[in-house]
Amino acid sequence: MSFTIAIDGPAAAGKGTISKAVAAHFGFAHLDTGLLYRAVGAKTLDGTDAIAAAQALVAEDLEADNLRSPEVAQAASRVAVIAEVRAALEDFQRAFARRAGGAVLDGRDIGTVICPNAEAKLFVTASAEVRAERRFKELVDKGLETRFETVLADVKERDARDRDRAEAPMVAAKDATVIDTSALSIDDAIAAAVSAIEAARG
Ligand code: CDP
Ligand code: CDP
Repeated sequence: MSFTIAIDGPAAAGKGTISKAVAAHFGFAHLDTGLLYRAVGAKTLDGTDAIAAAQALVAEDLEADNLRSPEVAQAASRVAVIAEVRAALEDFQRAFARRAGGAVLDGRDIGTVICPNAEAKLFVTASAEVRAERRFKELVDKGLETRFETVLADVKERDARDRDRAEAPMVAAKDATVIDTSALSIDDAIAAAVSAIEAARG
């Protein structure tokens, strides 16, 4: 039996953290769909055409070690506006969602476009300042030199591009449970997600 959990929301809202915990809790597989766009974005930084890169994407590309960088995040959001790029990545995501044993997918358009019939949908969000603070701390912990203002501007630019695009814009599905993690600890955010999913499971 398949059971799909769709988790969408803006950068650094806590989607990945919640998705991993929820997948472990229910014994489901997890796909971070942002990695697909990051892998395509990374290839465009090397000069490859975005559509060609999306069509030729293979699993090993998701393991490149530069995918978490801020440059690749911006490149990802630039290729994510291209309809042909999104179309090339659709089948893989839908097949993953339908796998036996259950699946958690996190991204921007899972509950709206990729899996509109997902059994459980969450939209995880937080204020731009809180999200930028979290990303800033991650970068500093990695030893990268950056300023909070730069990270905040980056987050806001990506939010706007993701929200305002014509193709699969970032928006909460009408039937999604919204979880604002601005003032939640990680444990409380996970608990809120698990209880919303358990309610959907009946
Ligand atoms: O996947 P997404 O970009 O939405 O966010 P994430 O990678 O799960 O979380 C971004 C950062 O925020 C991580 O360093 C988390 O540990 C942290 N976080 C937090 O401080 N409080 C939460 N309630 C959720 C995440
Ligand atoms: O981890 P973070 O939330 O910062 O970003 P991500 O989930 O890795 O996504 C990187 C970029 O890929 C986003 O800013 C979106 O432009 C794009 N993306 C998308 O368009 N659709 C998805 N399902 C996932 C990511």
